[in-house]
Amino acid sequence: MGKMKVAVIGLGVMGQTHARIYSEMAGVELVAVYDINQAHADRMAERYQAKAAENLEALFGMAELDAVSICTADDQHYELAKLACKHGKHVLMEKPLATDLIEAKAIVNQVKASGIKMMVGHTLRWDPRYYHARESIAAGQLGSPLHLYARRNNSYQNGLRLKGRTSVLMFLGVHDIDAIEWVTGDRIVEVYTAEVRNRLNEFNVGDAAVTTFKLASGAVGSYETSWVMPDHYYELDAKLDIIGTDGAINVNIVNQNIQRHAGGRFAYPDTMYGMEMYGRLTGIMKEELTSFVLAVTEDAPLPITVEDAYRAVLIASCMEKSLLTGLPVSVPTND
Ligand SMILES: NC(=O)c1ccc[n+]([C@@H]2O[C@H](COP(=O)([O-])OP(=O)(O)OC[C@H]3O[C@@H](n4cnc5c(N)ncnc54)[C@H](O)[C@@H]3O)[C@@H](O)[C@H]2O)c1
Repeated sequence: MGKMKVAVIGLGVMGQTHARIYSEMAGVELVAVYDINQAHADRMAERYQAKAAENLEALFGMAELDAVSICTADDQHYELAKLACKHGKHVLMEKPLATDLIEAKAIVNQVKASGIKMMVGHTLRWDPRYYHARESIAAGQLGSPLHLYARRNNSYQNGLRLKGRTSVLMFLGVHDIDAIEWVTGDRIVEVYTAEVRNRLNEFNVGDAAVTTFKLASGAVGSYETSWVMPDHYYELDAKLDIIGTDGAINVNIVNQNIQRHAGGRFAYPDTMYGMEMYGRLTGIMKEELTSFVLAVTEDAPLPITVEDAYRAVLIASCMEKSLLTGLPVSVPTND
């Protein structure tokens, strides 16, 4: 095939990252962008030298279009996935697959029925530190994992900007739920979750959730996730500690291994996920989009299946059920 022709739907923080990376890739042409805010879409189209589609019918009606990135808010994935399946366009979907379990299952079924490729952007699958942990365990270097601890904490500004349209477990939790199963090669079978509500009360969502969980192998773990870390603290505080019978591994993403002090404040600039170098975006997000492009153009295997992405939503839903019932919840094995 010639250049892969792609469009980006939803032009917020992530949509702009996708649009920029595609527009900088040699074998890819960003042909269109779309956002419900037309004026914003027009500006982005000009910035990335693409067409601003007037509506979704016009976008999906573009015969030359091979694929779309869906980068709308967490609860705005389903209808767009359905359209992409109907029109036979491959999809790079931002995580989570959907926030509603029934919608998530319907997407899996439609993807299978339509034959399109769908890759869900669980970014940690392209993070070299998590990849290394997975390879170490797969090679048997740690023996059998016995207990683990994971954490993903974001700033209050993130919790605030999402205005309760999603939960901390669906927005952040799905990353580590998927990573825990992928890195260990094991299955989460039971979750028991508690939360605290305070700073985001006006949006009727929790500030942070803490889960204990069991894996099928018998290993146990705990997981903490928050989106209320104080302003001018860290942007991201993430960890994965695994203790095995023969070894241990620690992923620690707190200060990004770089600290800048300016204007009376410390900052910890991201140098891994999406950093500009020599005028181009480089890093984990670029690797993620590269995997999708290779899957479409060269039939390369997708590093994550749509069923894997469904499991992350399923387990996050079990955590949310545990919050409601106050009890441990078994993760269905036959779903
Ligand atoms: N992979 C990661 O590390 C990561 C990080 C942040 C966000 N995300 C995910 O990316 C997605 C987008 O998040 P964001 O932070 O960029 O959100 P955002 O709020 O910054 O942007 C969303 C954009 O989508 C547009 N939009 C909303 N509904 C739409 C619709 N129905 N059709 C077209 N456009 C629509 C909005 O106008 C807005 O421009 C979410 O699913 C989120 O969970 C992933």
